[in-house]
Amino acid sequence: MELPHQKQRTFEPSAEAQAGANVAGMEAYRALAADAERDYAGFWGGLAREAIDWRKPFSKVLDESAAPFYTWFEDGELNASYNCLDRHVASGHGDRVAIVFEADDGTVTRVTYAQMLARVARFANALKRRGIKRGDRVVIYMPMSIEGIVAMQACARLGATHSVVFGGFSAKSLHERIVDVGAVALITADEQVRGGKTLPLKQIADEALAMGNCDVVRSVIVYRRTGGEVAWDTSRDAWMHEIVANESDICEPEWVGAEHPLFILYTSGSTGKPKGVQHSTGGYLLWAVQTMKWTFDWKREDVFWCTADIGWITGHTYIAYGPLALGATQVVFEGVPTYPDAGRFWKMIADHQVSLFYTAPTAIRSLTKAADADESVHPARYDLASLRIIGTVGEPINPEAWLWYRRHVGGERCPVVDTWWQTETGGHMIAPLPGATPTVPGSCTLPLPGIMAAVVDETGQSVPDGQGGILVVKRPWPSMVRTIWGDPERFKASYYPPELGGTLYLAGDGAVRDPETGYFTITGRIDDVLNVSGHRLGTMEIESALVAHELVAEAAVVGRPDATTGEAVVAFVTLKRARPEGEEAEQLAKTLRDWVGKEIGPIAKPKEIRFGDNLPKTRSGKIMRRLLRSLAKGDAIVQDTSTLENPEILDQLGRAV
Ligand code: WTA
Repeated sequence: MELPHQKQRTFEPSAEAQAGANVAGMEAYRALAADAERDYAGFWGGLAREAIDWRKPFSKVLDESAAPFYTWFEDGELNASYNCLDRHVASGHGDRVAIVFEADDGTVTRVTYAQMLARVARFANALKRRGIKRGDRVVIYMPMSIEGIVAMQACARLGATHSVVFGGFSAKSLHERIVDVGAVALITADEQVRGGKTLPLKQIADEALAMGNCDVVRSVIVYRRTGGEVAWDTSRDAWMHEIVANESDICEPEWVGAEHPLFILYTSGSTGKPKGVQHSTGGYLLWAVQTMKWTFDWKREDVFWCTADIGWITGHTYIAYGPLALGATQVVFEGVPTYPDAGRFWKMIADHQVSLFYTAPTAIRSLTKAADADESVHPARYDLASLRIIGTVGEPINPEAWLWYRRHVGGERCPVVDTWWQTETGGHMIAPLPGATPTVPGSCTLPLPGIMAAVVDETGQSVPDGQGGILVVKRPWPSMVRTIWGDPERFKASYYPPELGGTLYLAGDGAVRDPETGYFTITGRIDDVLNVSGHRLGTMEIESALVAHELVAEAAVVGRPDATTGEAVVAFVTLKRARPEGEEAEQLAKTLRDWVGKEIGPIAKPKEIRFGDNLPKTRSGKIMRRLLRSLAKGDAIVQDTSTLENPEILDQLGRAV
């Protein structure tokens, strides 16, 4: 494959970006990486003592005796919420603004660290009063809000493990997660508001709880966002503002061991059921702090804005924990980039003087399109001079989008940090250091200091640079996934498969390294996971949803490259009745798309559905997905089809509805 490096130019960090950077120049980067190589435990131990206020210091950094169930700083004790709030107030920074919240309609609310601490303490006390304690699991199904972050921090304060479910997920997806995690409480809102439209979260939560097996959920706590109509079960439901009204704003944090599960976040894997990725407290928090300093070169004067949702890992590490742990000022946004118009992001950067901006390639691509169509929402029309560093995450960024971002948003001045990482890694893994690493469009460049990333073949052997392979991480790192909730065997099989020798962390992505620079380029998932607008979706999850419809006999789902969303979902479906055509096919496709929206959530709706009399299968009955991928793309079939039972089906499926 062609490496970005071979056709694109390299952008050196400007003198301005280097001056005073937390890691200034490649010498400094190499020195850090060499330190980590020389004394791995000493390196992380030193950083952990610096980044975190420990209640009880740890005596050992890394324990590999139960590999791959690694533990970090195990006998150390801390509290994440104390580290995010109390310590800043204690050191005299209580008046600093923690969150600048901008609502969908543009209303701005500011909360200082002292106010945030009081709110978190009051809510934690209210949760305690409702019996929530250390080790309990609490599901949070909330819109982007100060209250959502308060809920996460309050759980952390009590040592309760939160599991945030993205507000775009359906009742069924929410139910599945509540049951799997064994939640004792659910925190939600009456409604969510995005792009001028409301979504009835409480109603969806009620539906989820009515689906059965949720008896352990004792409390449902509701944040009143809109005042919209909601059904009420007085034995179970309570308003957030009512239960905090008489609580004290002092709440002693619950000191927990470093390995105590701070949160569980569900993500899609190659099999049907989402995986509950379990994270620690100590190692995770260290990573959140350290990557803010490294990748975003965070300084006290910065205004940080990560546009992710708290329902995803990016919103955990770079909204709910990282910025707060540093005492940073950050912008939190309720709405969408295109409302009231596609200049919203640029206007907000100018209004709030944002200096560090972090978003997804999909947003950049759609805003590029909007700016091309309507000059009035072009970033050039806004004053973006406050920006210092701009970042991307979630999916591969194509060089054109990268260059547009650098030029029109970064003013050819701001380093672009393309950050590769995953729900499982807790934070950035491969990313440029803005004051050090020369950047190349389309490449996430080099592993952070101490991260031993490599490209190997199916047997775990290194492949030569320039040749594609499987991305792995050779040594454990502090913020890595600890297990899959309730399924340690699946953890081992998914991330430390025996085929690779059992000691390499399998990321699930393909990658290639540049022979000259060692730079990594991510080539996309190598498993049955799709990435649509930066959202991870399992093909099997969507297939299960489709076949759950009474009319569907069989379904196969594949990804197709898409200019805006990165990948698009294409479903091939056979029905229990004759293959529909024309208008009927269109009608049915719509029905099934809505069905998937109800089963999983709107993000999983197939962009296209094609009906066939059958699916292409081998004589042993296996669906040939690689053929479907070619058909979805509209490519000519060049693969060998001699093993195919029913070659004539390709012609039928090759035609769009
Ligand atoms: C993809 C999001 C290319 C990748 C933080 C990974 C990327 C999956 C990048 C994780 C990037 C994330 N370049 N691909 N900079 N960042 N990915 O768990 O396929 O929602 O495995 O975590 O997104 O998605 P997740």
